[in-house]
This record gives sequence, C-alpha cells and structure tokens, in this order.
Amino acid sequence: MQPQADEIEYEFGVPFPGRIVEPSRWTNTALKRLPVRGPLRWEEIFGRQAPVVLDLGCGNGRALIQSALARPDYDHLGLDILPVVIRYATRRANQRGLTNIRFAVGEARDFLARLVEPHSVAEIHVYHPQPYYDIAEVHRRLITPEFLGLVHRALVPGGKLFIQSDNPGYWAYIREIVPYYFDFHELDGPWPDAPQGKTRREIIARQQGLPVFRGWGTARADLDPVQVRRLAEQLPPPIFDADRRLRLVDRLERETE
Ligand SMILES: C[S@@+](CC[C@H](N)C(=O)[O-])C[C@H]1O[C@@H](n2cnc3c(N)ncnc32)[C@H](O)[C@@H]1O
Repeated sequence: MQPQADEIEYEFGVPFPGRIVEPSRWTNTALKRLPVRGPLRWEEIFGRQAPVVLDLGCGNGRALIQSALARPDYDHLGLDILPVVIRYATRRANQRGLTNIRFAVGEARDFLARLVEPHSVAEIHVYHPQPYYDIAEVHRRLITPEFLGLVHRALVPGGKLFIQSDNPGYWAYIREIVPYYFDFHELDGPWPDAPQGKTRREIIARQQGLPVFRGWGTARADLDPVQVRRLAEQLPPPIFDADRRLRLVDRLERETE
C-alpha cells in the first residue's frame, strides 16, 4: 500500500523518526555500488563539505535516519552487508526527503580498510554487532582489535565511536578492549535522544526484557599508527560465550520487518 504523506510509521509500537513527505519531495539515498578503489570523496557523494557520520551494520537505518533529521549540518552513510535491510533503510530515508544521508551494501571492515580516507570521519556508530553463536562463525564477529584500529584511523582527531549491544559476553569483551583506543564512557540507561530505543534491535531486545549496554568514546590522541598495529597484534580476539539462548531475539529481528 502506498504510504500517505505526513504518516507516522511505528515499529513495535515505537514511532519511526520523521514523517513521510509528499512523493514529489522524495529523494534517492541509495549509493548503488561502492567503488572498487578508494578513498571515497565525501564531498562528491553529498555535494558539500560537512562532518561525516557512519553507521556500520545499520540494519533498517532507524538510528541514522533520526540523526540525519536532527542534524541537517552532518552527512550520514549507513552500511550493511544485507541488501534487504539497506532496501528498507533507503525507502524510509527517501520517503522522508532526506538529502544528507546515503545507504550502501558492504562489509564494514573491508569498507574502512579499503574505502575510507584516514581521519575523514567525525563519528562511527556500531549498534548491536552480531554476536554469532557458533564457534565456526566466531571469525565473523565485527569488533576485533584490528577493526577498532581501522575505526580509530578513520576518525578525525577528537572523533567519536558510539557502540551498544544486548549481549553480555560481547559487551564484556567490548568494554575490555575499546578503552585501548578510545577514552570510553559507559552510559547508564537509554540515549537521551531515543528514550524508547535508538535502533530496531534495541527496541526488540528491551521488549524481550534483555539489558542493553551502551557506551561512547573519543579517539585517543596519543596513539600513533605503529602503536595501533601493535595493539592489533597483542590484544585478544573476540572469544566469548555468546549465550545461544539469545538467538530467539535474532529470529524476531529477522522475521518481523
Ligand atoms: C543485530 S543487527 C543490528 C542492526 C541495527 N544496527 C540495529 O541495532 O537494529 C546486525 C546488523 O549488522 C549487519 N552486519 C553483520 N556483519 C556485518 C559486517 N561485517 N559488515 C556490515 N554489516 C554487518 C547485519 O546484516 C545486521 O543488519
């Protein structure tokens, strides 16, 4: 069914940020194909110079769309490895008439390593990276020392990482390792700008009674590239018990969009 202009959409009873605008004002926020070679030129993508915000593993784009609506002076790029969720994200961003956001299909680690110019991004957000429950899939866990080194490299001096998870094992690992790269602060309670939940996954997790762990950090200024490389060699990989019982929430997340 064609959405109505001014319609408010709901996800699990929580309003999706923004309102649908008249079709004549819809935009095209899909970045069809990422280039083989980088670096990406943010000014070419957005047609202006502005601080850039990335959401890696952005899912249906709820958090990034909220940020794009609230901060018209920032440019936003959401990336996810799953084409279907990028389709959901672009549809919603298009229907809100946004010009300061793009979405692309891609793998986050490869994206940072290959396409993002060092020190060119103001903020990187990672909400609910998949914990992967099977031992055979542990290598797919996103948050690793190498990945955090790439996040650190992508950020401008003073740039920020925002991260959250509902998986206690993953969070124990994150809070151990992130402070090597960032002046890290854990948040007690929801983000002030999203009291009912910043992302789709957060909303589902909370409705299932799961705790949600949140934190943010500023890139440490005293780390040089040699030290970052050394940390990647020395720090432990993300080996933890992800607790298979939490798989139920993953199923709900997939089934109900
Ligand atoms: C648990 S969902 C969370 C989605 C969203 N951030 C939220 O909080 O609602 C994890 C998302 O990360 C994506 N993902 C997993 N591994 C990825 C990777 N290496 N690069 C990019 N996206 C990835 C998945 O496709 C999925 O959409």
